[in-house]
Amino acid sequence: MYVRLILLFTYIITINTQTGSFPDCKSGPLSTFPICDQSLPSRVRAADVVSRMTTAEKITQLVTTAAAIPRLGLPKFEWWSEALHGVAYSPGVAFGGDLPAASSFPMPINLGATFNLSLVHRIASIISNEARAFNNEGRAGLVFFTPNINIFRDPRWGRGQETPGEDPFLTSQYVYTLINGLQRGDDERYLKIAADCKHYAAYDLEDWNGTDRYHFDARVSDQDLIETYMPPFETCIRDAKVASIMCSYNAVNGVPSCANKFILETIARESYHLDGFVVSDCGAVSTIMNAHHYTSTVEDTVAVALHAGTDLNCGDFYSKNTQTALDKKTIVEADIDQALQRTFNVLVRLGYFDPPEQQPYRKLSKTDVDTEEARQLSLEAAQQSIVLLKNTNKALPFDINGLQNKKIALIGPTANATGLMQGNYFGNAPFLISPLLGFELITQSHSINISYAMGCKITDNDESGFAAAIELAKSSDIVIFLGGIDQSVESEGHDRTSIALPDVQLRLIEQLEKVVRTPLHVVIMSGSSLDLSYVSDSNECASLIWMGYAGQSGGLALANVMFGVYNPGGRLPITIYPESYVNAVSMFDMQMRPSSTNPGRTYKFYTGKAIFEFGDGLSYTTFDYSWSNDSLVSKFSIQSLMKNNYNEKNVVGHPYRVNITNTGMVAGDDVVLAYVIPPQKTFNDQTPPLKKLFGFERVHLNVHESTEVFFPFNMQSLLTVAHDGSKWLEPGFYKILIGKQHIHTIHLQGKPTRWS
Ligand SMILES: *[C@@H]1O[C@H](CO)[C@@H](O)[C@H](O)[C@H]1NC(C)=O
Ligand SMILES: *[C@@H]1O[C@H](CO)[C@@H](O)[C@H](O)[C@H]1NC(C)=O
Ligand SMILES: *[C@@H]1O[C@H](CO)[C@@H](O)[C@H](O)[C@H]1NC(C)=O
Ligand SMILES: *[C@@H]1O[C@H](CO)[C@@H](O)[C@H](O)[C@H]1NC(C)=O
Ligand SMILES: *[C@@H]1O[C@H](CO)[C@@H](O)[C@H](O)[C@H]1NC(C)=O
Ligand SMILES: *[C@@H]1O[C@H](CO)[C@@H](O)[C@H](O)[C@H]1NC(C)=O
Repeated sequence: MYVRLILLFTYIITINTQTGSFPDCKSGPLSTFPICDQSLPSRVRAADVVSRMTTAEKITQLVTTAAAIPRLGLPKFEWWSEALHGVAYSPGVAFGGDLPAASSFPMPINLGATFNLSLVHRIASIISNEARAFNNEGRAGLVFFTPNINIFRDPRWGRGQETPGEDPFLTSQYVYTLINGLQRGDDERYLKIAADCKHYAAYDLEDWNGTDRYHFDARVSDQDLIETYMPPFETCIRDAKVASIMCSYNAVNGVPSCANKFILETIARESYHLDGFVVSDCGAVSTIMNAHHYTSTVEDTVAVALHAGTDLNCGDFYSKNTQTALDKKTIVEADIDQALQRTFNVLVRLGYFDPPEQQPYRKLSKTDVDTEEARQLSLEAAQQSIVLLKNTNKALPFDINGLQNKKIALIGPTANATGLMQGNYFGNAPFLISPLLGFELITQSHSINISYAMGCKITDNDESGFAAAIELAKSSDIVIFLGGIDQSVESEGHDRTSIALPDVQLRLIEQLEKVVRTPLHVVIMSGSSLDLSYVSDSNECASLIWMGYAGQSGGLALANVMFGVYNPGGRLPITIYPESYVNAVSMFDMQMRPSSTNPGRTYKFYTGKAIFEFGDGLSYTTFDYSWSNDSLVSKFSIQSLMKNNYNEKNVVGHPYRVNITNTGMVAGDDVVLAYVIPPQKTFNDQTPPLKKLFGFERVHLNVHESTEVFFPFNMQSLLTVAHDGSKWLEPGFYKILIGKQHIHTIHLQGKPTRWS
């Protein structure tokens, strides 16, 4: 966001004393009007306050930095705050005073890897507590532009780290839980904060081969829209009832998102019943004209955006040009009123106009920020997100008692990582525990020598640090290489061109392998897929861990995992592709299914051999699955399903039940993944998904303990999406897989039948 950077720096140094003040409905200028009458519906109250404004005043309210209207007692309001994984730097947020820091949880890609929805809910509740506390102290707004729920379509995408991964089902479950935790708390009368599902729609390219996100036109088939790109937004809007969505920079099939009546009006409002407002990404009204050249005058630009339903402009295009649009009659005042009624309705629902005494959320304060519980949860989340990908001969965990008087060397560019583990959209963390510090903390009461050498930087080819690293490795009993990438490689505005492990790191790993006394351990930080085949295949590498960007306690979480204080149970929320993937498909190709120029995307469609698969992850213990074989095949006629099930969410047959037993030597977590494999034959020339996730559950089991998990199977999981977006019931055999076990088959009988 070019706008964002400028504002960011301004706001770090200015404390906005206006944010956090509220209109006075007791004795202020509005107190006698319907806006202050709590017995009225929020919509009526919002319409009332808008009706009190002059045209010029209204125009000042169409942008995220909304001016005060002193005549009405309306304070200045900054609509743009951020909280991707904790309250974060943004125009609406100012750290300082009593609130120098906010909890910095692991990045969303890590939360995806936990496959633990109750964890997501707890984190979201703490973020919204802290967000409200910041607001109450005048240090944040009430509207937070989070979450990012675009599908992580291509491993090169610089912002995949902000999402829970590549799967629409996982992303939908995540967003449902997250929005509940952010927007709803103990007080049912009010929104706790207003969240914002972004970036709507089909946004997942920053800048590739000379085309950036401001100019990119995502050509998306109806099939991919319905099957892949829209479901998380549908869940966010329809089921979780988010208060706002953000239209994206890119165009969708020729029409810039913020001017796109079809996706904003027809889909989001009419079909998904959006009850809230649409905000443009920052600068994304201006780019309708200036980048997409979809319009050629400012008055037409204002008109297409407002008419499409872009209610609020992050930026200043509306404040500068709406009067011109009125003068040139491309819009009428009612267009402005509609937009403001939607935005002010959310303010009313937030309790902005109501007395503070009656609102529990208004009592949250600095004592609710960076609490002991939040610190614990942040550590727990990081631990739950760590994915163990290789562990030859049980090289991990380390036995702390067996390592007395031994030396452990931490080598590599992320061994002493701190801010790097915050990924992007971060705030000021209360502390940052690097792996080095984590190892020191965990071994402090033992005589174990922990030493460190950086060896090399993330990508810089300079090898001058190699010699010291190799010397250290030679004299150490255990050597851990910690590498990966950072925001200089993957970030907002910046996609990757290579998904290889940076060359310099590979060279250092190769040299370390030659001198280590015991096989090397490798730890990778990244928000995305890196070709780890070398480490995976090498006999000299004993273990491999992927840990995303694990937040404020990431280093301690890692140490806890490597010493067996915590038994890892995270699973990859993405496919780890071979390096050659980037040559096999253009980043502009939005198609999920394979073609002659596309090997297919994500575990659902990728036809090549992954280095690691979606859902991969090991444990220090073993789990056994058992299920009843009473009815291994159930038959359904398509005709009867058509008759009996009008709703996609209706359950088909009985839920699948599986008993999970911990058959190993230590307690641990298993993530149970339930997939359906549809008939593997083309239908209307379309390749079916290889498999499709329809349920997941993370369970904790002590040694020899068993638990039963069950997964309802609904109509949606049986439907095939055709090229035109229509949904069908196709005859054939649908295999139900729990983990890698085929436990049941559904035999659908009859003729292909259109469902919707
Ligand atoms: C590790 O990083 C911290 C924070 O950036 C720094 O203060 C410390 O000196 C570093 N430690 C070493 C051994 O380089
Ligand atoms: C730990 O090992 C390093 C590197 O060999 C050495 O410089 C340091 O003195 C050792 N520390 C202790 C406390 O033995
Ligand atoms: C990338 O850009 C180059 C130079 O403009 C062009 O020749 C090439 O076809 C582009 N590749 C893709 C996949 O669009
Ligand atoms: C799971 O185990 C319980 C207790 O042993 C048993 O009653 C139940 O039938 C089992 N369920 C399945 C699906 O095997
Ligand atoms: C069900 O079938 C599987 C695969 O044939 C077998 O391993 C398992 O023991 C059977 N379960 C029961 C409860 O009979
Ligand atoms: C999921 O997260 C919650 C909240 O932190 C935690 O209490 C629970 O133990 C986790 N579940 C598993 C199976 O690890």
